[in-house]
Amino acid sequence: MPDQSVYKMDKLNIKKWNRKLDDATPAEVIEFFLKLMPGKIALSTSLGLEDQVLTEIISAIDNNAKVFTLDTGRLFPEAYDVIDRTSQKYGITIEVFFPDREDVEEMVNTNGINLFYDSIEKRKQCCNVRKLVPLARAMEGLEAWITGLRRDQSVTRKDMQLVEWDENYNMLKINPLINWTEDDLINYIKAKNIPYNPLHDKGFKSIGCLPCTRAIEPGEDIRAGRWWWEDPDTKECGLHKQ
Ligand code: ADX
Ligand code: SF4
Repeated sequence: MPDQSVYKMDKLNIKKWNRKLDDATPAEVIEFFLKLMPGKIALSTSLGLEDQVLTEIISAIDNNAKVFTLDTGRLFPEAYDVIDRTSQKYGITIEVFFPDREDVEEMVNTNGINLFYDSIEKRKQCCNVRKLVPLARAMEGLEAWITGLRRDQSVTRKDMQLVEWDENYNMLKINPLINWTEDDLINYIKAKNIPYNPLHDKGFKSIGCLPCTRAIEPGEDIRAGRWWWEDPDTKECGLHKQ
């Protein structure tokens, strides 16, 4: 990761891009940044609806663009089918990053296989080993990452911007769907016949790891099924710290 990136040096650029791209479509936003920093930008996909839309868009622009996912080892079986169906449909490689074997073994052999239910600290430890450490590896050599974050996903995301400086990873973070609603997503998925996880039709709005995700009831917050035993104001896995 660059320490003194030109993008960081000029934070005014971020304001400028946010203004310039305010009315741009997600495809225009992605195309703009793919051209600006060729080979230095990647889509980080959780295989959820948002990221499926972004994968369709990015592969139509450049089907060699880097797309990666973090396989925590605790994903739903359906998520693996999404990887397979999506790679085949768009003729792309979704690069898979795994956690470090020794880290996982030490963690579960010390704390138990389902340590995440014991305390927030242990839940964060698991997210760190299974997501954050592999993410840092996936980001080596990049200057920007594209995510599927949307403002209306949760209280923790309501102030996020289209283009942000990500202090945690020292690079740009681009959120092309930041203003999209759930209806926008579903309409786009249907119109373009994009492959998606069938669990979304069974009440799973936001899908992460199997033991930490449950279906939600109508009227519940979109992310209510993620780490459902924790406080909504704090439940982020660390990928998207404010
Ligand atoms: S999380 O932080 O609570 O897990 P969420 O599932 O809402 O995040 O996803 C938000 C964005 O984070 C996704 O659109 C994607 O860009 C990134 N992300 C989340 N989980 C993963 C994953 N397993 N692999 C790659 N990217 C991910
Ligand atoms: Fe571990 Fe749950 Fe975090 Fe997945 S979501 S990495 S299983 S704590």
